[in-house]
Amino acid sequence: MAKAKAVKGSKTKCIGILTSGGDCPGLNAAIRGVAKAALHYGIKVLGVQDGFRGLVENRFIPLDDKATSGILTYGGTILGTSRDKPHKMPMAGKEMDMTDVAIANARRQQIDCLVCLGGNGTQKNAMHLFKEGGLPVLTLPKTIDNDVAETDITFGFDSALNIATEAIDRLHTTATSHHRVIICEVMGHDAGWLALGAGIAGGADVILIPEIPYNLQVVADHLIERRQHGKRFSIIAVAEGARPEEGLNGEDAKKKDKKRRAQEKRLQEEFGDSEIHLVQESLDSRIARQLQRLTGIEARTTSLGHVQRGGTPSAGDRLLCTRLGTVAGQLLFEGKYNQMVAIRGSECVPVPLEKTAGKKRLVPVDHPWIHTARLVDTCMGTRP
Ligand code: F6P
Repeated sequence: MAKAKAVKGSKTKCIGILTSGGDCPGLNAAIRGVAKAALHYGIKVLGVQDGFRGLVENRFIPLDDKATSGILTYGGTILGTSRDKPHKMPMAGKEMDMTDVAIANARRQQIDCLVCLGGNGTQKNAMHLFKEGGLPVLTLPKTIDNDVAETDITFGFDSALNIATEAIDRLHTTATSHHRVIICEVMGHDAGWLALGAGIAGGADVILIPEIPYNLQVVADHLIERRQHGKRFSIIAVAEGARPEEGLNGEDAKKKDKKRRAQEKRLQEEFGDSEIHLVQESLDSRIARQLQRLTGIEARTTSLGHVQRGGTPSAGDRLLCTRLGTVAGQLLFEGKYNQMVAIRGSECVPVPLEKTAGKKRLVPVDHPWIHTARLVDTCMGTRP
């Protein structure tokens, strides 16, 4: 089929696209959305490999119609990603400020605007390139953690939510059969969105998130009460960043941490190797061990880890990425830069980057999802 002619009059002539930070399902759908819309407006599109590192190392690839076709459903990112920051980049064993090199490389390619797909770190790095080097940028909010400020949702979250929910569903059947407690550790860094969302969708009996420090005795009482009501299994969805309240559990954890660090120091000195670290008990194991002691109920753990970031994006994410990407294309046509394309209600809207960079959106403790969880008898780790 013959391609429609590009629309004339774009204020932007050439862009670079990069993906940065942890990968997630939907990145390729977003790359495709931005690139196809840009090509529609007659804008030349270059892909930057491996995030800001590729920009510093001058690694660009052309993203034409062929390169961006057939990638909508692929997981990961065809461009590769890294967690490198332009101003603090490890180079030959040293951390260097490579901002000027990054900017010079972009200018050499005649890039009018760099489109950065990423989470909180990426918003900050993009802002830095604009503020310190005057390079115009546009960003899209990506992360399974859903913790980027000024947008209702980030892409990648819906796919991870589906994966974590399916895992909790599967854990239900085995927990029921063995009358066990199963603790399922969910990613999310410092934010509890994923654990809370998947916990509600999967019908977890307990949900522990970083925003609400938990009291294990309260959790144990809830599990015992469920037993007394004939419910012989329980599922606990715990966010990787969840932490205990000060007091019983908090004091315990602090003391243990101090002891571990002292032991580590002793070993490092003895062997003259600062890389020696003691393996720490994982959060889900610690909770399982403590709950088993408090309740006498057999407990098991499952940590979902990077499975949550892999595989094909959900339909919701494909739609979201295509919408965000194509709105970015329209902003490029208009020459409107230094914005993050956000979702507000049913609209995709540009938000000035300075309003979002450096801020995190955690779960407010009075968020409607928490109210919902409590109304279906989910223990949130504290007395209501
Ligand atoms: O930010 C996304 C995320 O998956 C977090 O939920 C998690 O804490 C972190 O990345 C894991 O990072 P890495 O893949 O570098 O181990």
